[in-house]
Amino acid sequence: MSGLTTTGLTKSFGGVRAVDDASVEFLDGRINALIGPNGSGKTTFFNCVTGMIRPDAGTARLRGADITGLAPHRIARAGIGRSFQLCRVFPRMTVLENLLVAVRPRSPLGALKRSAQPADVAKARDLLTRVGIEHLEHVEGRDLSYGQQKLLELAGVLMADPDTILLDEPAGGVNPALIDRIGALVRELNAEGRTFLVVEHNMDMVMSLSDHVVVFDRGRPIAQGTPAEVRDDPRVLEAYLGV
Ligand SMILES: Nc1ncnc2c1ncn2[C@@H]1O[C@H](COP(=O)(O)OP(=O)(O)OP(=O)(O)O)[C@@H](O)[C@H]1O
Ligand SMILES: [Mg+2]
Repeated sequence: MSGLTTTGLTKSFGGVRAVDDASVEFLDGRINALIGPNGSGKTTFFNCVTGMIRPDAGTARLRGADITGLAPHRIARAGIGRSFQLCRVFPRMTVLENLLVAVRPRSPLGALKRSAQPADVAKARDLLTRVGIEHLEHVEGRDLSYGQQKLLELAGVLMADPDTILLDEPAGGVNPALIDRIGALVRELNAEGRTFLVVEHNMDMVMSLSDHVVVFDRGRPIAQGTPAEVRDDPRVLEAYLGV
């Protein structure tokens, strides 16, 4: 079944068509990858389907429901969660506080500390255990390694219980041991029913993790299929290698 689909999605910045007439389909309940060379429009695509940027044209649907141009919080309520290519962890908040602001992003920190709901705190602790950084609960964001920040950001995404999770380069800049842990977590969470859409340059991770791969080149989808299908597609080799 199709999960997130777009038809003719387009977004230009000045003269650059960052996403150019993109009609793509991601499979519901599966691990999908979105790959392509640097600057091919992957992050802009994520920004369009999560409401951070309003597309110039085209539509985005989640299991048939039109989500085009909705505000980010409404798209989040529809069940889509996302992480950012450049991690968004608050440096002067503890790990636990970072998770609590994920549920109440508009509360000032003082209010948050006074009014944190026991259920939210319990959920945050469960998720820290889940991603393997429960021992860092009281450590400030700025003292985490980059890989630990990525795990914290994933826990933050999970606080809202999204059924569809968009990850923008989860393995970027992360050491190999943590890459394996992130891959294993994505598999586990998928086995529990969550759909993933992962932008990633680490081809070993993409090929071993995903059921379905969409390839962008200069804002346009040039191939969609299983990892083996896209790997052997001459258009994909051309986009990456210029051969
Ligand atoms: N806010 C912006 N203003 C102007 N141009 C932008 C903006 N965001 C993206 N672009 C341009 O749009 C194109 C697509 O960028 P995007 O960040 O979506 O690519 P990407 O596939 O995520 O690349 P990478 O793999 O390097 O993260 C690039 O040419 C980029 O310079
Ligand atoms: Mg990007």
